[in-house]
Amino acid sequence: MNTKQKNIRNDFYLLKHNKVVYFDNAASALKPKQVAKTINNYYTKLGTNSSRGVYKLAYEVTTLYEDSRESVAKFLNCESREVVFTKGATNSLNIVATSYGLNNLKAGDEIITSKLEHHSSILPWVEVAKKTGAVLKYVPLDKHSRITVENFKSVCTNKTKIVALTHMSNVMGYLTPVKEICKIAHSFNAITIIDGAQSVPHLKIDVKDLDCDFFAFSAHKICGPMGVGVLYGKFDLLNNMIPVEVGGGMIEDVVNGEPTYKKAPFKFEAGTPIIAGVIGLKTAIDYINNVGYDFIYKTSKELKDYLFARLKELKNITIYNDDTDIPLVAFNIDGIHSHDAASVYDNYNICVRAGHHCAKPLMDYLGQIATLRVSLYYYNTKEEIDKFIAVTKAVQEFFNKN
Ligand code: ALA
Repeated sequence: MNTKQKNIRNDFYLLKHNKVVYFDNAASALKPKQVAKTINNYYTKLGTNSSRGVYKLAYEVTTLYEDSRESVAKFLNCESREVVFTKGATNSLNIVATSYGLNNLKAGDEIITSKLEHHSSILPWVEVAKKTGAVLKYVPLDKHSRITVENFKSVCTNKTKIVALTHMSNVMGYLTPVKEICKIAHSFNAITIIDGAQSVPHLKIDVKDLDCDFFAFSAHKICGPMGVGVLYGKFDLLNNMIPVEVGGGMIEDVVNGEPTYKKAPFKFEAGTPIIAGVIGLKTAIDYINNVGYDFIYKTSKELKDYLFARLKELKNITIYNDDTDIPLVAFNIDGIHSHDAASVYDNYNICVRAGHHCAKPLMDYLGQIATLRVSLYYYNTKEEIDKFIAVTKAVQEFFNKN
């Protein structure tokens, strides 16, 4: 562990005190003390609403809230009016399906998605398809279960209206070639919706360069607060969409009971916003920028190589994502149900995820009921991997499957 990583670990209570080996970062990253401090500061010293009051405190909170929007815009390389604050990636993706999908699709239109999707990326379109008569089509996966440009081309047609794909699979850690796919989709006049929940923690995002129409992520996966996320949308698209929720804070006027709505992004933020979360998200972005994506890439590569090399030393392990792009492994210990194994890991204070990972179509595709998943982030270490390997042997011994 180098000095930088040691300093980073000191920012996280669980890591500083070696309470656990936290290998469930794809479910949620840990939160540094700086994020907690920002939220605590809001609740103890501010605590007012934003975007409504004319008194100084309310103005201060509104400024912090809008500063966070600016910060997200810089983080994604877009305009601040293209940043909608939501409850999380799931909420963001549902907004697009409900508002854009239900109002623009008709029977026979095609929606392209994949079997690699998290339920949040695919289920909103399953519902849209049921209600509109549109047809779901899946990009065939290659022999590694990856989405490729060639396979995308094989399903994209003049009937394609929506392309809804993961930027990075939460089970396999595969990066989707989104930039090339968006270019092809646009040549057929299709709209692209990218689920960035798993890519943002690992990859510097530039939505202008990707040229996607919509992009969603959650704050908690980049060490930010729970309960807040972002929907990026190209302004003209967003601004022409009908709000999904209506209420306070998003109206221009109501005359004789007839409302007119504010422009995007405000028309999508009905009600009192998630103020502490939004402000905390800015601190998380500052934190990640300070860690630096170069450091994240370098650490990720080292951890990934070490994790796979060590795991492959063991017998009777089935790995499902051998050529993954991040330090994430989906695997099973032969003969042991993943939930049983995860319970034994927990006895040694190692946190891993087991189950279908909210990606049932992928489990069916892999022919598995469930898998184990360990997912590492920039603050994890090779020493933690060593402990994980030793405990994996102990799990096999416990169930007599070594
Ligand atoms: N989507 C999160 C995961 O993959 C919760 O675990």
